[in-house]
Amino acid sequence: MNNILEVNSVNKIFPIRKMFKKPLDLKALSDINFTLGSNETLGIVGESGCGKSTLAKVLTKLESPTSGDIELLKIKYPDYNPKDFHSHIQMVFQDPYQSLNPRKKAFDIIADPLRINTDKSEAEIKELVYAMMKRVGLREEFALRYPHHFSGGQRQRLGIARALMLRPKVLILDEPVSALDVSIQAQVLNLLLELQQEFSLSYLFISHDLSVVQHISDRILVMYLGRVVEYGSRDEIFNNPKHPYTQILLDSAPKIGLKSIATKNDVAPGEAPSALYLPKGCAFAPRCPKKTAHCEESIPPLEDKYNRMVACFNA
Ligand SMILES: Nc1ncnc2c1ncn2[C@@H]1O[C@H](COP(=O)(O)OP(=O)(O)OP(=O)(O)O)[C@@H](O)[C@H]1O
Ligand SMILES: [Mg+2]
Repeated sequence: MNNILEVNSVNKIFPIRKMFKKPLDLKALSDINFTLGSNETLGIVGESGCGKSTLAKVLTKLESPTSGDIELLKIKYPDYNPKDFHSHIQMVFQDPYQSLNPRKKAFDIIADPLRINTDKSEAEIKELVYAMMKRVGLREEFALRYPHHFSGGQRQRLGIARALMLRPKVLILDEPVSALDVSIQAQVLNLLLELQQEFSLSYLFISHDLSVVQHISDRILVMYLGRVVEYGSRDEIFNNPKHPYTQILLDSAPKIGLKSIATKNDVAPGEAPSALYLPKGCAFAPRCPKKTAHCEESIPPLEDKYNRMVACFNA
């Protein structure tokens, strides 16, 4: 499989200033490594605050990494000009209402990426916009309406249409269906699966809903406090998790028939530690049922074991 995206040793530190004190380092991402293949969906899961959205922002250049490097289609991020970059990778947000300009009509929201990044004529743009609206299931008469006239599901279709206008190879989807009713979620997920085939897209799919991630992903990456703790094929991760955190995450998801929903916070006993005060050793050690003295002293490296990558001394 060809790698479309390669993420190597990426770190992101936010300096946090508290009044009258010297800034503290918040390590939102620590030594992140993974690849995304062509046509593949990589699901990213982990508790609130573990760095999922920060990763999405770094991958779409909304934030720059503190260190490490990222290659998209074999070209390093700093070597891209903005137009080429945005024509290869686009983001879909959880709440399209916040990411869509409320003062613009749907037509212009979808047309703008073409106006900004290409020299197509308005006539060509019009044709492409209406074709994409049709493809994502938005009727023509919606073109002249503003985002607040749309339902949640329609707004998400609008966000997806805009993201696809430059025919990117990669979509970063940050909780794309979390704000939608369950029946609408299924429609939008099915649309995403169809579009993936049609446009040969690779998806990085962030969600706290494990049933959605299981449904849509080929591989899964589990994060804990800014680190990758386990990463492998969907079936290995779901059927045979090796990291204690992944095991607790899957166990704590209430099972409703085949459907399981992980609530954001009831993942492991104990207060979730903050990325501002990381322990010396394994970040999960304070909550881990399998921890030993070694875990509190050293950070376990991410190693290729049991058909997946896992960062645990006692996996
Ligand atoms: N601009 C910023 N400045 C300072 N700290 C930030 C900034 N953005 C994120 N953080 C911190 O980085 C950490 C990771 O946040 P992030 O939003 O990436 O988590 P998340 O996994 O997306 O959480 P959620 O599931 O709630 O969306 C958190 O501790 C957060 O407070
Ligand atoms: Mg987030």
